[in-house]
Amino acid sequence: MALDTPAINTVPLGDERLGELLVEGVSKWFRTRRDNVHALDDVSLHVRPGEFVSLVGPSGCGKSTLLDIVAGLTRPDAGRVEADGVPVTGPERHRLVMFQESALFPWLDALGNVLFGLKLVPDLGRRQRVETAMEHLRLVKLERFARANVHELSGGMRQRVALARALAPDPRVLLMDEPFSALDALTREQLYDDLQEIWRTRRKTILLVTHNVREAVCLADRVVLFSPHPGQLREVFDIPLPRPRDINSAELSGYASRVTAALKSYYTRDAML
Ligand SMILES: Nc1ncnc2c1ncn2[C@@H]1O[C@H](COP(=O)(O)OP(=O)(O)OP(=O)(O)O)[C@@H](O)[C@H]1O
Ligand SMILES: [Mg+2]
Repeated sequence: MALDTPAINTVPLGDERLGELLVEGVSKWFRTRRDNVHALDDVSLHVRPGEFVSLVGPSGCGKSTLLDIVAGLTRPDAGRVEADGVPVTGPERHRLVMFQESALFPWLDALGNVLFGLKLVPDLGRRQRVETAMEHLRLVKLERFARANVHELSGGMRQRVALARALAPDPRVLLMDEPFSALDALTREQLYDDLQEIWRTRRKTILLVTHNVREAVCLADRVVLFSPHPGQLREVFDIPLPRPRDINSAELSGYASRVTAALKSYYTRDAML
């Protein structure tokens, strides 16, 4: 999926649009020898600086493709994407991706992995790098495990290290592709609490892809619903619940039920076409 030359771009600073994402009329086809898949069709979405938006939809509706396009890892065939008010032409340190699998380097310990992320930040001395990396391990409550090898960490701990690695370079935008889906329910719930606290204090713009509707509602300002074949944006739900949110609360269940009902209606409608 990566472009041929994934360059690190520079972005002008001092702009009130820093952290803003603009997706306008984006379409994407994947042409293989056997098939021509229309992965995204005319998708438009505006994400405000510091906003938390969840993307939900059935498998194959183009969520990961959209995230890749916003990350600058894949180019759209039509439409445009802007970040910070500037066209996206490739990956950039202010838009970092966190995947379902932690994708940590197994030959580095937890600290080493977070330090690796900091390679994206120029002009940081060794001491500053270590201090920043430790600060972020503390943020995800893994300070004590700085020297632990990746294989010594649980799945939840690995995702925490991956989160620290993504946050340490201080990106404006965090793109999260099903980061919690491989974790057990209790570990996930703890991470929801921690992520809400991190988002409150750091105010990153976050785009989260998830299959879990309650998770989407629990974390986001808005939940965006996609349908497949081709991937289209169908509905946007505002979630005006106060924070911090408890994923098991009755109010949250109400919103989750509405999103799930809409999701089902598109399934049924599409199946009948
Ligand atoms: N590199 C690729 N080459 C060919 N087809 C692709 C490629 N990447 C994605 N697709 C196709 O594009 C469509 C959208 O895929 P995508 O991975 O974005 O969906 P998704 O919504 O993330 O699904 P899931 O929820 O299963 O992760 C699918 O039909 C998929 O098969
Ligand atoms: Mg996906």
